[in-house]
Amino acid sequence: MNAIRLGDIAPDFEARSTQGPLNFHEWLGDSWGMLVSHPADFTPVCTTELGAMANFQEEFEDRNVKVAAISVDPLGSHFEWIKDIEETQNAKVDFPLIADEKREISELYGMIHPNDDATMTVRSVFIIAPDKKVKLVLTYPASTGRNFDELLRVIDSLQLTQYEALATPANWKNGDDCVILPSVSNEEAEKKFPKGFVEVKPYLRLTPQV
Ligand code: BEZ
Repeated sequence: MNAIRLGDIAPDFEARSTQGPLNFHEWLGDSWGMLVSHPADFTPVCTTELGAMANFQEEFEDRNVKVAAISVDPLGSHFEWIKDIEETQNAKVDFPLIADEKREISELYGMIHPNDDATMTVRSVFIIAPDKKVKLVLTYPASTGRNFDELLRVIDSLQLTQYEALATPANWKNGDDCVILPSVSNEEAEKKFPKGFVEVKPYLRLTPQV
């Protein structure tokens, strides 16, 4: 299995999910996508993660991002577990949970790391642009729940920088100053960024978010 790298087309697949059969690319349509794997249903950290993801649903929709979760548990288990997530996390799970009992999708996406655990998926995250290209790959260990604020932050950065000659600095949050790409000359920057910019170094220029 080759690792999925940034810029690759996210592999397409057919799956059974809690929202019915799903063809991944068709389901994504023209939206952004976020596919997350979790180690197992009815486990504590995963329960909090999927609750957090459900409670962020509106934020994802505002950004035109479709989200789906996947593990190697069967569909019946997913349906039962959703009840617990909704009860304990004060959440409504409105995204599909994919049942990958045969591990085909998990293998395709490299979500099983056999030297860590041969039976469960790790906590993988793939963010996918509307052209189906992979824009972010993250892997967390089973013992660490993901930070969904961080995932939203990356989506904001990706969506901002895809159209502007900008990048976002360390710990950037939506609304903070951005970095002008080194490929843009000062002359071009004056035209592109009418709010102006501060040149800290010739290669480090900050401008207010457009
Ligand atoms: C959890 O979600 O709590 C969990 C799952 C697998 C291993 C360890 C923790």
